[in-house]
Amino acid sequence: MKINTVGVPLLCKEGSGEVDLPHLTSPYKGEVEIITIEGLSKDGRLHPIQQAFMDCGAVQCGFCTPGMVLTAKALLDKNPNPTREEIRKAMAANLCRCTGYQQIVDAIEEAAKKCR
Ligand code: FES
Repeated sequence: MKINTVGVPLLCKEGSGEVDLPHLTSPYKGEVEIITIEGLSKDGRLHPIQQAFMDCGAVQCGFCTPGMVLTAKALLDKNPNPTREEIRKAMAANLCRCTGYQQIVDAIEEAAKKCR
């Protein structure tokens, strides 16, 4: 099975945007939903998390931003009202070389308010 995406460039074949799923390992059996950063915006409008990252200055070079935004979405889907500590803990595996994380935590708090 193959999917087409540009949001997971590290797994693409020669930058084609095509991902070969047998190379992915997953503990999930059966049907799973894969959401890429491009899949969050609807009708040309940014998702509230994406907009909050823009509004709070949580995007500088942007290298980490897709992972940060998608991790934030997973957090807010499970916990719509996280504390700042819960946000920091959820984001701990995502590294950002630019922002110092303060703006990222601010953005996720702001997005949580908008998504409730
Ligand atoms: S915005 Fe540059 S690495 Fe995070």
